Amino acid sequence: MFPSPAPLLALLLLFVSPLLAQPPKGTITTPTANTAIQPGANFSFAYHPLADYGVSTYAVHVWLLDVSGVPHNASAVTPLGISAVSGHYFGRFDYANYPAVPYPKNPLPSVLTMPDFSVAPGGFGSGEHASNLPLQLTVIEEFGGFAPSIGNNLSIAATTIIYNATSTK
Ligand SMILES: *[C@@H]1O[C@H](CO)[C@@H](O)[C@H](O)[C@H]1NC(C)=O
Ligand SMILES: *[C@@H]1O[C@H](CO)[C@@H](O)[C@H](O)[C@H]1NC(C)=O
Ligand SMILES: *[C@@H]1O[C@H](CO)[C@@H](O)[C@H](O)[C@H]1NC(C)=O
Ligand SMILES: *[C@@H]1O[C@H](CO)[C@@H](O)[C@H](O)[C@H]1NC(C)=O
Repeated sequence: MFPSPAPLLALLLLFVSPLLAQPPKGTITTPTANTAIQPGANFSFAYHPLADYGVSTYAVHVWLLDVSGVPHNASAVTPLGISAVSGHYFGRFDYANYPAVPYPKNPLPSVLTMPDFSVAPGGFGSGEHASNLPLQLTVIEEFGGFAPSIGNNLSIAATTIIYNATSTK
């Protein structure tokens, strides 16, 4: 489900990012890589953004993506590659950093709830059962620094979690 064009554009970057030389990115500190998370379970979440002296963090978008259909071959990536991605948007959040966001209105949550993807979303969409499925918990950060940019700079950090693992880590 892609609720607005802005995250879609950012997703494009996700596939192009392997081509770029070490772009800056924040760090998903929780959950750690390959953590097993069951459908419907609450899980702890923490992200360390780029905000620092000279760098402002404006917003943090949190996604859960199934990119298993995306070819790893970067030269095969086109905007149509997006059709191979599905997932869930947890939302666009604030992070307190001075002077950009002194008073966050919608702070980054410390707990997220794993969707149950077997539940049909309504309309013509269908749910799907899955077990031991690696998904990318993906954070797209909007930030800016002294170097001018057209709109906010975007950075992407991701960590793999295991959806509906049959044995826990
Ligand atoms: C997850 O957290 C929400 C909000 O605190 C709570 O209402 C819900 O019962 C929790 N779900 C589980 C499976 O623990
Ligand atoms: C990558 O994909 C392109 C387009 O499908 C193809 O022409 C090329 O041979 C592939 N390269 C590798 C290394 O697989
Ligand atoms: C979770 O995995 C089990 C098999 O290990 C499967 O029977 C069940 O349908 C899966 N649940 C969901 C919500 O996909
Ligand atoms: C932000 O984007 C601008 C324009 O592309 C670039 O010059 C600058 O280096 C970027 N800043 C960071 C910290 O990546």
